[in-house]
Amino acid sequence: MCGIVGYVGPREVVPVIIEGLRRLEYRGYDSAGIAVGCAGQPLELRRAPGKLRNLEEVIREHPIFPDAKHGCGGTWGVGHTRWATHGRPTEENAHPHRDCTGRIVVVHNGIVENYLDLKRELQAEGHVFVTETDTEIIAHLIEEEIKSAADSGKTMLLEEGVRRSVARLTGAFAISVISADEPDKIVAARNGPPAVIGLGEGEYFVASDVPGILHHTRDLHFLGDGELAVITRDGVHLTDFEGDQLPLKIQRILWDPIQAEKGGYKHFMLKEIFEQPRAVRDTTLGRISLNTGTVFLSEMKISDEEFRDAPRIDIAACGTSWHAALAGKYMIERLARIPVEVDYASEFRYRDPIIDSRSIGMLITQSGETADTLAAQREMLAKGLKTIAICNVVGAMVAREAHGTIYTHAGPEIGVASTKAFSSQLTALFLFALYLAQTRNTITGDESIALVEALTRLPGKIEEVLRTADLACEKLARVYSTARDFLYLGRGIHYPIALEGALKLKEISYIHAEGYPAGEMKHGPNALIDGTLPVVVLATKDGANHGSRLRYEKTLSNIQEVTARSGKVIAIATEGDEQIGDLVDQVIYIPQAPELLLPLLDVVPLQLLAYHIAVRRGCDVDQPRNLAKSVTVE
Ligand code: F6R
Repeated sequence: MCGIVGYVGPREVVPVIIEGLRRLEYRGYDSAGIAVGCAGQPLELRRAPGKLRNLEEVIREHPIFPDAKHGCGGTWGVGHTRWATHGRPTEENAHPHRDCTGRIVVVHNGIVENYLDLKRELQAEGHVFVTETDTEIIAHLIEEEIKSAADSGKTMLLEEGVRRSVARLTGAFAISVISADEPDKIVAARNGPPAVIGLGEGEYFVASDVPGILHHTRDLHFLGDGELAVITRDGVHLTDFEGDQLPLKIQRILWDPIQAEKGGYKHFMLKEIFEQPRAVRDTTLGRISLNTGTVFLSEMKISDEEFRDAPRIDIAACGTSWHAALAGKYMIERLARIPVEVDYASEFRYRDPIIDSRSIGMLITQSGETADTLAAQREMLAKGLKTIAICNVVGAMVAREAHGTIYTHAGPEIGVASTKAFSSQLTALFLFALYLAQTRNTITGDESIALVEALTRLPGKIEEVLRTADLACEKLARVYSTARDFLYLGRGIHYPIALEGALKLKEISYIHAEGYPAGEMKHGPNALIDGTLPVVVLATKDGANHGSRLRYEKTLSNIQEVTARSGKVIAIATEGDEQIGDLVDQVIYIPQAPELLLPLLDVVPLQLLAYHIAVRRGCDVDQPRNLAKSVTVE
């Protein structure tokens, strides 16, 4: 999830782009770069690792087209702020990326899944690559198309080169491309990640998101999937990837800049809840084969033998990431038939755990910076374990120390309460469980294919939950926002989700909430139940799975234990469950999915319920009191 800004028009290009990038920095901030053109001259590039201010410093030291005699600080350009997916967050890996000649540059948001195949092919043609990124191959592909046309005596315009190149890409991309040979032109194309074109008075813009350009124009065309725009000083020409002309659909956006940064949502947390389909899709992208059901985790420096010989997986994490770890335990044990131990990182580091050095250690941390989790990793390494990190920040400390990192591609998470990072951690854990099962031969090919297929259908199902549950949770919040306590119950893999639901509620609404395994109620918590206690029960089921049906039936008995004591039950149930409506006060339905993937759907109404209750209580949803996004101290 990176930020792109491009400009063609009469103003000084650099400030327009830098200001736009600043407004998009929430999309990524591990490096930034800019490329600017001035007719008849080579493109000027500046890049810097770290935040945008580093790039500004580089530009101050090395100004772009400073020679006033040319009367030109450049007339068109593109800029980028990066959230790394492929390649470390270094200067070389910062965008824009160039072709061999340096005359074509590309900025890209997304992931090119087949970049290694394309890279090999281009290398065979003599192309030399200087970065670790997937983006660089796009510039080389375009160069190759234009060069091949020239070799056969034809002139190919940049847009045609881009059109032919994007046809060869698999994965998700929103790109903007400029060429030194075609002044005052930007070619933008989209397949997946967002891109928006801004239409001003004699000036035109492109950006990944509205805030990047809203301060210049409110007339926007949201680039659709499969659309390609040629942006010049004369206007915007829109086609599909086949070259057929399309009409521009201009919308006037009336958001203020703060609203725009939140994508029109009231809070970052709500925006991030709604970004979950994309986060799950991006975390899956490039790591599965639908035909064979195979999972690829190329990031591993741990051999298949080591995975086969490992007696156990030891996971350490904190907070929401710890809940993901607990759910991961169910996934890994069920699919790969290997014991999994889950620890709070803060406990693991001090309890001198008994560890077999052939075990594999795993650290789950969105930020990659949590002090306790890093200390647990050091403890694991000291005990001779190889470690795997699941992390959302490329190049974070945890990844530097690990023998393999499965990066989640959730993009920066700004709301302190973790939502999309959690879903992408569950996705990464599911992929890891399948990978391990395939390596250890504990799963059949048909099972793998079915699970991989179910995983790819999940983003659509999360979208469905978002469509229906948002309003339902808002209504529930009207009823329950004054409650003093909440209980969340679940069994099996749904128990960690109950814990997560309770954590979401307490951290943003300050209501006391507890998560419990439903079967434990009679061992104490039943004493809490009275007519004022809302109890949220995860009562979903995978009808095709015997264990899941059994769990569901046991959960129904637990619901009856609550209602018999006048407790108020809100159930999360699976579509088609007609029985449950008669037993509980309110039901929110989610679509069907295999048992191990249901948590990714269960959790969405719990996040929305916490959100709407916190809003009704007037709480600071994005920055709850006493909490910080990264906990870098003990
Ligand atoms: C809760 C939340 C925290 C974090 C925890 C660990 O919504 O976000 O509980 O999960 O502080 O953070 P990371 O994953 O960055 O190690």
